[in-house]
Amino acid sequence: MTLSTAFTRLFGVRHPIASAPMGGSAGGALAAAVSLGGGFGLLGAGGGERDWLARELPIVARAGRPWGVGFLSWAADVRGVEQALEYDPGAVMLSFGDPGPFAERIRAAGAAVIVQVTDLEEARQALDLGADVVVAQGTESGGHGARHGRSTLPFVPVVVDLAGPVPVLAAGGIADGRGVAAALALGAAGALIGTRFQATAEALVAPSTAEAIVQGRGQDTERSSVLDIARSSAWPSAYTSRTLGHPYLDRWRGREAELAASADAQRDYRADVARGDVPRLPVWAGEAVDLVTDLPPAAELVAALAAQAADALARAGRS
Ligand SMILES: Cc1cc2nc3c(=O)[nH]c(=O)nc-3n(C[C@H](O)[C@H](O)[C@H](O)COP(=O)(O)O)c2cc1C
Repeated sequence: MTLSTAFTRLFGVRHPIASAPMGGSAGGALAAAVSLGGGFGLLGAGGGERDWLARELPIVARAGRPWGVGFLSWAADVRGVEQALEYDPGAVMLSFGDPGPFAERIRAAGAAVIVQVTDLEEARQALDLGADVVVAQGTESGGHGARHGRSTLPFVPVVVDLAGPVPVLAAGGIADGRGVAAALALGAAGALIGTRFQATAEALVAPSTAEAIVQGRGQDTERSSVLDIARSSAWPSAYTSRTLGHPYLDRWRGREAELAASADAQRDYRADVARGDVPRLPVWAGEAVDLVTDLPPAAELVAALAAQAADALARAGRS
């Protein structure tokens, strides 16, 4: 059984599954593999670093399948988006911040606008802007999201109701086909999945990161801004990120203002990274990390997720 939805029809893909535009780790090889597997692969362009884009865009564009590219609205500038548009993506996804400055350029280039939202206010703004797809992100998600976000299960159906005919993807805490089936049952037109795709053959992550995800447990993940502050990241304070445990979380939890004011502590962090005492990057992972137990090729994973979703829906229908 193929699961045809408004999302699969919009982009001409086989499965209602998109890989998240994970900044840095969703490179061209991962996005291409997801698209070749029948999903919709998204390149994680982050703020739109030119050299990274120049290296990764041709890889996904060469695959000749529908694909997209995601930017952080608070960090990107129009030139990065224009660089991506030269490669003719099917969609540009905008997350975290005001999508307004980019939407017209994207549409004029003939690409769809996907907006990731974390509350109803953002969902309304995305729809007013004419988003072609809305991604409803719950706080179970790995990586960054709203400090005061919503949980996926109750959030997705409200966004679906608000969006009317505009397809909605559910994101956050989905790592197997049962989660994809649940997203469809909530009225979403598919799932956008991040953490699960970090543990694939094509993700641009260190082997230690992939291994930490395979070993990681949802109960060990935590949303916090401590690691952004410690590594002197420019992420606005409205966003926290969900990661696996980390020594700096234990040391600074609840003392974020003190950490932000301490140049010494931030220097210590850089020294600890240089010595190899703490990993170069936090391990961003969502609550569904328990379900990640292997490192498959991404195309195989897409097919397995789709088959498992179809099976879960059939079983639910029979009972
Ligand atoms: C390592 C990692 C990096 C991410 N980077 C981005 C990003 O640059 N832009 C973005 O829109 N979302 C990013 N996200 C969030 C995803 O778009 C998505 O909301 C999330 O992965 C869904 O939850 P899941 O991880 O439980 O599947 C990232 C997620 C992870 C795990």
